[in-house]
Amino acid sequence: MATINDNYLKLKAGYLFPEIGRRVAAFAKANPEAPIIKLGIGDVTEPLPEACRTAMIKAVEDMGDRNSFKGYGPEQGYPWLREKIATQDFQARGCEIDASEIFVSDGAKCDSGNILDIFGNNNTIAVTDPVYPVYVDTNVMTGHTGPASEEGKYGGLVYMPITADNHFTAQIPDQKIDLIYLCFPNNPTGAVASKAHLQAWVNYAKANGSIIFFDAAYEAFITDPELPHSIYEIEGARECAIEFRSFSKNAGFTGTRCAFTVVPKSLKAKAADGSDVELWTLWNRRQSTKFNGVSYIVQRGAEAVYSEAGQNQIKALIQFYLENAQIIREQLTTAGLTVYGGVNAPYVWVKTPNNISSWDFFDKLLHNSNVVGTPGSGFGAAGEGYFRISAFNSRENVNEAMRRITSAS
Ligand code: MLT
Repeated sequence: MATINDNYLKLKAGYLFPEIGRRVAAFAKANPEAPIIKLGIGDVTEPLPEACRTAMIKAVEDMGDRNSFKGYGPEQGYPWLREKIATQDFQARGCEIDASEIFVSDGAKCDSGNILDIFGNNNTIAVTDPVYPVYVDTNVMTGHTGPASEEGKYGGLVYMPITADNHFTAQIPDQKIDLIYLCFPNNPTGAVASKAHLQAWVNYAKANGSIIFFDAAYEAFITDPELPHSIYEIEGARECAIEFRSFSKNAGFTGTRCAFTVVPKSLKAKAADGSDVELWTLWNRRQSTKFNGVSYIVQRGAEAVYSEAGQNQIKALIQFYLENAQIIREQLTTAGLTVYGGVNAPYVWVKTPNNISSWDFFDKLLHNSNVVGTPGSGFGAAGEGYFRISAFNSRENVNEAMRRITSAS
């Protein structure tokens, strides 16, 4: 009989968001009239920017004409999109990133899991606690961990606690770590990293031969001009960091799917024989074999993000969600709750009142206010006692959810 990848059996219950979906569906079934408002998963609600829609309609027309029809595109993405990303997202910020170092994909989530394909199985791996669960689960699936402990920590992973005391930014380890996951602006805490903090990480990584996986899916929400948007704004990062970006949250592409990963050609890691190997070559090989690129239509939509109209439209979208975050922060603070994040990020990280558990607070909010959030403990043991509220929703729903929570409290 065929056998399975037993590592999957180590995974705890369901992936966080399907588990929330299951509980909400059960509640909705029992209470069909309940007007549920979802501020749980960070899924966008506002329509795609007009510039993107127009470009995609035009691209559909291109596909209807033999002369402009496209079959398979380059696995790495079309050059016209990679050029725009390199110049506008990176070179304009002083980052030395070339278009050939951009790999267009269908999601930062997929890439942050797939990247493990090109790394060995004996690396020491560090994640923050709490953390975006995909980093942990993909390492479990790949066999990089032991089983989970009672509190849900997997053997073999190094957990770096992020708490209010360290402003939700991990302390630089005093041990040697090979692969480090960082996410700024942070999911789930909404924390941000200063240039000095990232410089400390880059210095550590260079001194230890480590690779930083830098998830910058929420960089567009940074409004503070002092904060770095990309790790490549930090000196030395080209030698130690891979960056993940996405069009999901800045341009509303969660259902359209387009993202990219930056792998500098200067990045190297060791082969078993001790030689240095260029990671770009391995990732290029991996993508060429396992991926056939993002559709032409979607890439034309993503390209339109970089037009003048596209830039104005995504700025308005981001501003809209940031105003939602501000409303959430203000209302919850008025209700007597302690909140973090939500200033340069679309997530507000809330301390649960009276130290009730994250899942108890989830149930209370669902049952009493019909509002869905995300239990902090779902992001890791150190998230216990916290709760994440997403600013991705209509203004009407955010106002109504806050009215219900504040009046119930
Ligand atoms: C979240 O809610 O954490 C995000 O939606 C997850 C994601 O983007 O995959």
